[in-house]
Amino acid sequence: MDRQTIPGSNLVPFDFDRDMESVLRTWSEAGWWDDEDAQKEKISDFFMANDGRTVVGLIDGSAECVVHRTLGTVRYDQQLLSLGCVSAVTTSRIARRRRLASRLTARTVAHLADEGCAVAMLGMFDQGFYDRFGFGTGAYENHAWIYPGALAVPAPYQAPQRFDLDSDSEELHEAMASRLSVHGGVVVGGERLTAAGMRVDDDVSIYGYRTDGQISHFLAVVTTGEHGPDRITQWAYQTPEQCLELLRLVQEWGDQVDVVRLTEPVWLQLQDFIVDPGAQLRRTKGSQTGALRIEADAWWQARIVDLAACVEAMGPVDEPFSVVVRIEDPVEPHLVNSGYDGDWNGLDGTWRLSFGATHTAERISDGEPIDLETTINALTRWWLGVLPASTLVAMGAFECTADTADRMDTLTSHLPKPQPGWDF
Ligand SMILES: CC(C)(COP(=O)(O)OP(=O)(O)OC[C@H]1O[C@@H](n2cnc3c(N)ncnc32)[C@H](O)[C@@H]1OP(=O)(O)O)[C@@H](O)C(=O)NCCC(=O)NCCS
Repeated sequence: MDRQTIPGSNLVPFDFDRDMESVLRTWSEAGWWDDEDAQKEKISDFFMANDGRTVVGLIDGSAECVVHRTLGTVRYDQQLLSLGCVSAVTTSRIARRRRLASRLTARTVAHLADEGCAVAMLGMFDQGFYDRFGFGTGAYENHAWIYPGALAVPAPYQAPQRFDLDSDSEELHEAMASRLSVHGGVVVGGERLTAAGMRVDDDVSIYGYRTDGQISHFLAVVTTGEHGPDRITQWAYQTPEQCLELLRLVQEWGDQVDVVRLTEPVWLQLQDFIVDPGAQLRRTKGSQTGALRIEADAWWQARIVDLAACVEAMGPVDEPFSVVVRIEDPVEPHLVNSGYDGDWNGLDGTWRLSFGATHTAERISDGEPIDLETTINALTRWWLGVLPASTLVAMGAFECTADTADRMDTLTSHLPKPQPGWDF
């Protein structure tokens, strides 16, 4: 039997009453749920909080694969674009390798397109799987493991307040939504999802500050035992000064906690606030838990869903020019037998991108001389400013002349490194 043919299977929208228990079993088989009742409630909340935007693969009526999606925004340079996040992709142990996750992921991207998203993003388990639906890898982020007592943050200490994911969820979401916005910064879902997302995997404690009576800056931390390591899973601040106030708060934990892990904002260098970082690196090297470390990884991926909207958001050019691009989009074959019955089938085809007073992207018929051949994966990475066109040419991901690559790079070379600032 063809391993992709599954008798009794059906790919349909998630139904909470019918599917929640089997989705939990799927999460348990993936190692994402350890059968504790408290976490069961949190996972159920997470699935309730996205307004029904989940699809499942049923086999004999039982959900054996699930894909969750949420709407939001992503900042591109100076503009906000509509965003869809793909999350919680899981297949049970009896249903793997039968293209269930592939079909449901492709269908989810198509639903996001129909819902008006310009861009889709996700957190990947590894590079490769989501490339098959047009996603390209995002920028590195720095993660630091530091001894808080070795911090010397130039900000005054203020005693924080304790916040609560139930009673303060609306304000916490507002603080996330109005936080200092950087290129690539995302806001996902509403207050229910902010709270559900922050606690679905972790027991977090939240500390922070109010300004004019409203929560303005906070951090959510997972603590481990008496001495850590503690992990900051989320933080929000509206100004650089408020970010430093939060770091100053972390510094105070040094009388008890040995290690705190946090993700570095793209606009600062944490090492600037560490006393004698060179000596600390040498002295703690080899320690299993207490070493000062700063490590980088690229954990998220993105893909352009609405090319015209993405091109339109790009910055101005000095001289108008256009590029005829042959785009390969691998998503379409995965939409076959996915249960998707809309019109979106990806961006595969020939496009003219015109850059001038305004920028446009239009599909054109084959036959015009092609300036650039690429995939939607690579085009997205260039558009976001993850890699320049010249590097993509060297990698074989862009096929174009050096002159075309140079012109394209004038559109993205000013972009800072994109950073989502949200765990989706
Ligand atoms: C990842 C997961 C969802 C895949 O589910 P699945 O239903 O078995 O996936 P599909 O059958 O649709 O696709 C499998 C295909 O992906 C390919 N694939 C898997 N990982 C890959 C990778 N890193 N790079 C490239 N291809 C990959 C497989 O080779 C297979 O290809 P084939 O169909 O040509 O043989 C499943 O293994 C799972 O639930 N894992 C645990 C939870 C998890 O990590 N989820 C992802 C969260 S981001």
